[in-house]
Amino acid sequence: MPATPFSCSYLILQPRFNSYFNPLFRSFTYQLSTSPLSFNGIKFTAARVHSSLSPAAETDSQSGGGGRSGALSPGPIVAGEVQRIDVNPPKGTRDFPPEEMRLRNWLFNNFKEVSRLYGFEEVDFPVLENEALFTRKAGEEIKDQLYCFEDRGNRRVALRPELTPSLARLVIQKGKSVPLPLKWFTVGQCWRYERMTRGRRREHYQWNMDIIGVPGVMAEAELISSIVTLFKRIGIKESDVGFKVSSRKVLQEVLKCYSIPESLFGKVCVIIDKIEKIPVDEVKKELMAAGVSQEAVEELLQVLSVKSLTGLEEKLGSSGKAIADLKQLFSLAEKFGYSEWIQFDASVVRGLAYYTGIVFEGFDREGKLRAICGGGRYDHLFSTFGADDIPACGFGFGDAVVVELLREKGLLPDLSLQMDYIVCALDEDLQGAAAMVAHVLRKKGQSVDLVLESKPLKWVFKRAARNNAQRLVLVGSSEWQRGVVGVKILATGEQYEVKLDELI
Ligand code: HAM
Repeated sequence: MPATPFSCSYLILQPRFNSYFNPLFRSFTYQLSTSPLSFNGIKFTAARVHSSLSPAAETDSQSGGGGRSGALSPGPIVAGEVQRIDVNPPKGTRDFPPEEMRLRNWLFNNFKEVSRLYGFEEVDFPVLENEALFTRKAGEEIKDQLYCFEDRGNRRVALRPELTPSLARLVIQKGKSVPLPLKWFTVGQCWRYERMTRGRRREHYQWNMDIIGVPGVMAEAELISSIVTLFKRIGIKESDVGFKVSSRKVLQEVLKCYSIPESLFGKVCVIIDKIEKIPVDEVKKELMAAGVSQEAVEELLQVLSVKSLTGLEEKLGSSGKAIADLKQLFSLAEKFGYSEWIQFDASVVRGLAYYTGIVFEGFDREGKLRAICGGGRYDHLFSTFGADDIPACGFGFGDAVVVELLREKGLLPDLSLQMDYIVCALDEDLQGAAAMVAHVLRKKGQSVDLVLESKPLKWVFKRAARNNAQRLVLVGSSEWQRGVVGVKILATGEQYEVKLDELI
């Protein structure tokens, strides 16, 4: 069957230009029409499209949405030879059409530039890892959210839900060939089968910075400083966000008083982290089921409500490592110049089992969003993978919550498409000449939208306006014979002729 030319009036794809910009999107009902078209060997059915904002789509958009609105993803529907596809990405995932890609690149460039300013080297790992890398036994939520499956070689694999285990794997693999301390950063996609809420989705990108091989608090202080630098670069102030800081050593000291074995530590922290998500009585029950005495549970919960370092000192005494570390961090924060960004809050524990020391989370001061970023010290992760321990700390900073915050504050940057030139042949015979003009300009670093077909001038001007092109070059036959082209500065309307080799 011959392919039918693509017709806009027949196949209208869902206008989802907004998982970053505006979470509102529409879902559509389809009516089959008659003409199939083929593309890259797949047959599509051109469908007349009727839009209707479905309640499910509204729910998704309110919750940060993206992806399909239905709970189950239907497979392709095959009617005769025609395969009708669902044009939405899977629930909780995003497409990045150009305007969203520009925002993503802007954000990632800021992540990368801050990492460069702090002297970090970029690394990356595969999105697909061996499942065993993530199957810790502390009852963390992240393990239940794993996208995991058996590959064709019967290996258990998983899409990474976070980057830290991969980083640890690579550090172990490199062994002594890399000099410590390592300062590594990465920006990568992570997958978690999450309950969708605002800023939480099933795939997200995380910017991570990690320092491997530094046992002292200077490392944490440097990491928090880098996040503050990022916030400032993108226009977020200390009146918008702050960091809640604590240390897991606080809990360790309480547990030690009640002779609770070290081996329970990670598990207890993971249970305690649920305090704001499930009723306190449930948390108490889980703690006792894990082997923590009722007395110790009450003491732990009391300590977690402390909101000042002096209050903590009153509870734990002033001699412990937790207090010493935290005091040093607050003192360093003054030297780094970000004291007003951080506050002590004993309730910050974090939901990952591997943290051992200082932990921190970035939060919006209006309390509308989930954590913007989080991290801490994880000095014993390496030994859980069978290697020698190396002191380490780092953070993860997602791409979704910060964009919600920027939108809330009216701080989204204006990232409209920009083009230096649009180049158009006035005659079909001059298309080769127009290509030469584009080539000359591109060699000089100018971005050029070359008009690839014969089009009326009205169309060319409309396209130039859409692309925010600065200049229009018209290649006409009499000018070309004289070795010149016509240039129009689109903002002012000024026109002039210029020789090909004098174009800039
Ligand atoms: P995490 O707190 O699980 O830590 O995630 C870090 C950040 O990633 C969160 O604060 C949030 O910005 C973002 N994030 C996490 N899950 C989602 C989601 N479902 N949708 C959107 N954004 C999300 C970690 O992953 C640690 N591995 C961080 C770390 C690095 N610690 C030391 N080094």
